[in-house]
Amino acid sequence: PWNENRARAIIAAETSRPGAALPILHAMQAAFGCIPPAAEPLVAAALNITRAEMHGIVTFYHEFRRTPPGRHVLHVCRAEACQSVGGEAVAAHLRAALDVEWHETTRDGAVTLEPVFCLGLCACGPSALLDGQPIGRLDAARVDRMLETLT
Ligand code: FES
Repeated sequence: PWNENRARAIIAAETSRPGAALPILHAMQAAFGCIPPAAEPLVAAALNITRAEMHGIVTFYHEFRRTPPGRHVLHVCRAEACQSVGGEAVAAHLRAALDVEWHETTRDGAVTLEPVFCLGLCACGPSALLDGQPIGRLDAARVDRMLETLT
C-alpha cells in the first residue's frame, strides 16, 4: 500500500544521481507494485520538473504501471526468434483466453499480460516468463494448461 514516508525515502536515496527520474520510478514500482498517482507530484517536486513532465515520463515507458499488477504477471516474448516459431499465434491465443490486451490485467485480477522483447530463451521459443519463471515451447495447449493453474 501507498506510504508517503517510504516514497520520500526512496526519492531522497536517488535524487542526487544524474538522470534520477528512472531509478526513482523503478524503485517506486518495486516498493508499491506501480507508480501510485500520489507519487508523481512528489517526484516532480524533488527533481524540479513540472507534474506534466513527470506524468509524461511515467506514461512514456510501458514498464511503469499506474495501477497494481494482477496476482500473476506473464511476460510474453514478442521478438523475432519467438515470432518465427509461432509466437504471434500464442500471443493471440493468450489475449483471447484472458480477454485482455497487452499491459492489461484480467477482470478477476489474476493475470497481467506484458510483452517483452527477447528473454534470451530464443532456443526454446515461443518463450515467456510467468512470475519470473521461464516457460518455453509455448503453444495453445500449453497456454491453456498454464492458465488453469493460475488463481
Ligand atoms: Fe524470444 Fe529471444 S526472441 S526469447
